[in-house]
Amino acid sequence: MQRPEKSEALETKVMKICPESLALAKELLLAGQVVAFPTETVYGLGAWAYSAEGIRRIYEAKGRPSDNPLIVHVAPGASLEGIAEEIPQRAEVLMDRFWPGPLTLIMPRDKDHIPSEVTGGLETVAIRMPSGAGARALLSFCGIPVVAPSANTSGRPSPTTALHVLEDLGGKIPLILDGGPCEVGLESTIVDLTEEKPLVLRPGGITLEMLKRWIPDIDLDPGVKGAISVDAKVVPKAPGMKYRHYAPKGHLILTNAPAERWKQWIREDLSRASEEQGKDKTTVRIGVIASNEMLEDLEQEGVLKLCHAAISLGYVKEPEMAAQLLFGALRQADEKELDIIYGEAFSREGVGEAIMNRFVKASAEQRIL
Ligand code: TXA
Ligand code: MG
Repeated sequence: MQRPEKSEALETKVMKICPESLALAKELLLAGQVVAFPTETVYGLGAWAYSAEGIRRIYEAKGRPSDNPLIVHVAPGASLEGIAEEIPQRAEVLMDRFWPGPLTLIMPRDKDHIPSEVTGGLETVAIRMPSGAGARALLSFCGIPVVAPSANTSGRPSPTTALHVLEDLGGKIPLILDGGPCEVGLESTIVDLTEEKPLVLRPGGITLEMLKRWIPDIDLDPGVKGAISVDAKVVPKAPGMKYRHYAPKGHLILTNAPAERWKQWIREDLSRASEEQGKDKTTVRIGVIASNEMLEDLEQEGVLKLCHAAISLGYVKEPEMAAQLLFGALRQADEKELDIIYGEAFSREGVGEAIMNRFVKASAEQRIL
């Protein structure tokens, strides 16, 4: 007798973006199914914004808390009718300047059309017009608004390649559209324009400095501000920002210490582990996620050889590269089964604010000098 299967695994197709895969995606979305697709920021898990069934499937596939609202994605040139009740004047300014692009705007929700499941019961709705070629192709081809959170299992780093999506959601969703690696690598900047004071609820590729040129009084939400630690006393306004996120399984220590201290710490960790376990020093797997400059410094006294993994975030002067690589780096830490990971704190200037926001959330400990 055959044993009943524990859960019915779906076959997950991974397809390049072409007329055939777009037609399949449209068919699935209109039937209340979910489809993963690339954007310029990260891969999204899409459902038709007006399909209660599709929305339910998103939360189910991701294991996402249902109070965490979704972003509605629209095609270039699409109208926001049936999504936003009204478009605030300041939103028009930012839409003109930054759409299509990695900027999400919070507006009053069109209650007659947008289901409350999309917004976790909020009176507002998050909207974005992505610039990534894959997302644009899908949205234009389908001609429907698509709600999409990042296509990761809730809590894991957001996916920046189709393979990352497959790792997390393989067997749970029918289709992944593969558009190669995402350019920005971090999720979109979220701006709330529904209150008197315009606020950045989540830093991203469109930086505070860029926004200030058009809306001078815009500021970071106090809930995401802060030197380096997540201040539990101030609750962030975007529901999703209150969750611990992106953390690798190993103990991630985020630090701005110079290379000399890293060398000392790594040697100490290794000798402590060998004393405790009385075994070979290699039984504790130490890894580093750092700039090329830091990796070169660590290499000099042979410390890098003691590490199980050296994961590069590119050069210090090119924070856009670090943004693009960060989530993949955090996933690699798990693949290499690292026990202890040292991560290099970047400057918070420009896109550095977004990098540090995600890195802090992923870390278990911070050593800031
Ligand atoms: O770049 C992105 O924005 C990616 C790609 C796929 O477009 N999407 C993404 O979605 O990052 P997700 O669901 O992982 O993050 C959405 C964030 C959450 O923190 C959520 O709480 C917040 O947006 N959000 C959504 N609607 C909101 C609203 N009405 N008010 C405040 N925050 C909202
Ligand atoms: Mg997410």
